[in-house]
Amino acid sequence: MLSLVVLISGGGSNLRALLEASEDAEFPARVVAVGADRPADGFEHAEHFGVPTFSVALSAFDDRDAWGDALLEQVRVWQPDLVVLSGFMKLLPPRVVAALAPNLINTHPAYLPEFPGAHAVRDAIAAGVTETGASVIVVDNGVDSGPIIAQERIPVLPGDTETELHERIKPVERRLLVQAILDIANGHIDLKEL
Ligand code: GRF
Repeated sequence: MLSLVVLISGGGSNLRALLEASEDAEFPARVVAVGADRPADGFEHAEHFGVPTFSVALSAFDDRDAWGDALLEQVRVWQPDLVVLSGFMKLLPPRVVAALAPNLINTHPAYLPEFPGAHAVRDAIAAGVTETGASVIVVDNGVDSGPIIAQERIPVLPGDTETELHERIKPVERRLLVQAILDIANGHIDLKEL
């Protein structure tokens, strides 16, 4: 049974998908804790499923490294097999990545390496592309630049707003994330080999 700590910043719809998947006794992973850099709305999903939460706010620390160390300390309490960033909107300091990778994955609402960064959906629309995508990657010290675990193309429809496109992307992200965790748990994907 793979133990997961999920880090979020927002509504946590991808987290919700993992929690729902965990309800299936056959699913080989369990979310043992949910963390955030703020009291995230998505904590409501963790509370609904009785999963502990923690938040470590950057503003409470003198610098990003001190914040990262505190976040890492909180993650390590749960001794997870895998840390999943899902809508976590902060870049982790290098020593946090070094401590957790490669057992540290992220979902991204674009077909990486296209449109990395915090505004991938907006950037795809601004670029006028007819397709974008969703990706699951291993986190490295770059911005959405780590090895790709899974990705899938998604059409951009004429007149799409950022919200409409993002809401079309998220279900694909969720499916790719659940499948990636299945593949990692059953050994079909070895993160050390990527
Ligand atoms: C997801 O598309 C994630 O890839 C991106 O932000 C969104 C978070 O959505 N970084 P939610 O909080 O899981 O609903």
